[in-house]
Amino acid sequence: MDHFLYRDGALYAEDVPVADIAAAVGTPFYVYSTATLLRHYQLFDEALAWGDHLVCYAMKAASNVAILKTLAEAGAGMDVVSGGEYLRAKAAGVPGSRIVFSGVGKTEEEIRLVLEGGIRQINVESEPEMQAISKVATSMGVSVPITIRVNPDVDAKTHAKIATGKSENKFGIPIARAREVYAMAAALPGLEVVGIDVHIGSQLTDLTPFELAFAKVAELTEVLRADGHTIKRLDLGGGLGIPYSRSNEAPPLPSDFGAMIQRTVGHLGCEIEIEPGRLIAGNAGLMVTQVIYVKSGEGRDFLILDGAMNDLIRPAMYEAHHDIVPVQEPAPGVEQHTYDIVGPVCETGDTFARGRNMPPVAAGDLVAFRSAGAYGAVMASEYNSRPLIPEVLVHGDQYAVIRARPTFDEMINRDTIPQWL
Ligand code: LLP
Repeated sequence: MDHFLYRDGALYAEDVPVADIAAAVGTPFYVYSTATLLRHYQLFDEALAWGDHLVCYAMKAASNVAILKTLAEAGAGMDVVSGGEYLRAKAAGVPGSRIVFSGVGKTEEEIRLVLEGGIRQINVESEPEMQAISKVATSMGVSVPITIRVNPDVDAKTHAKIATGKSENKFGIPIARAREVYAMAAALPGLEVVGIDVHIGSQLTDLTPFELAFAKVAELTEVLRADGHTIKRLDLGGGLGIPYSRSNEAPPLPSDFGAMIQRTVGHLGCEIEIEPGRLIAGNAGLMVTQVIYVKSGEGRDFLILDGAMNDLIRPAMYEAHHDIVPVQEPAPGVEQHTYDIVGPVCETGDTFARGRNMPPVAAGDLVAFRSAGAYGAVMASEYNSRPLIPEVLVHGDQYAVIRARPTFDEMINRDTIPQWL
């Protein structure tokens, strides 16, 4: 469910007409709904209400400080994967005690940064990384809570580029080697083992792979406890998928996910952390663009938009589907038209959809990409020297630009010309 609905013939973001925002900030832009963000966070929070838990928003999905602050004020923790994300979380007022640090290649500089600023736990991904954390922590005279990310070797049944839980993926340590690696952690100074971490992939639309992975984690918990380790916290990652197409998808709900977690690991008495990103932010955001031209090609019509692959890379990168809808509500019963929907960037990969049926639109019309709140703005680039597009946050009948569009000068002046030129 989201808060982008047609009302009196026009698409609204909560109580604000999307066309009003377009008139004020220009196109293309991203717009997020506060109510949708909060609702999705609350669904997870309620799904885990049966026990001690913390929902750590995977801020890689959408990391604008205003979005982080919105969620943090509702009680969310944050899952960060870089020093930059850690500093964003801090800028949003999130205390270190609610931030977990994930990622396969944490540098010593990043480790020092989070130890100085405070961290709930570091999720360790390899032995060399564990040694680096131990070294930095002892040099600072502190002890840091850690979990070790195990790779359970389960098939997440998702797009190959976003599956992480098979043994051939770069993530975590093989679960078969967990006892050995936990023994090593226990022997290293500056580390306090507190639990186990797992994350098997993103956009999972079936609970079975999660359940297989969590059952393995439950088994491992007992084994590690018998070995004398303290396992009091389980970080079960993110990955729950969202319906990208309203017509035919119905992935499991957060409540189903929470009940499955209770079933698989609830008996262990551990504090549960989860790291959802996409389900919180995905359907809380639109990318709004304007039609530049409708061009008749050989046997097809191209809808040429002012938004492009540099603004929303998911279709080009993962063949991802986004529903694309006119901002002005189509008349009831209007006949659909078939378009290839493209951006102006100079490569064929800049195609959002081929042979897409949608209500007819004309040059100058606004169209909105649904489900663009996660992995949209954060993956944007300035390819073709197209400035990053602005982000807008709606709250009831108010809205604010939460990241302004850079001017061309601002974009160009980030370059410097060396003294020999
Ligand atoms: N935790 C860890 C350790 C992760 O690597 C990820 C996502 C998450 C949590 C959050 O997963 P989510 O709940 O959002 O599925 N750019 C891709 C998705 C990459 C996901 C990377 N890791 C896309 O646009 O589909």
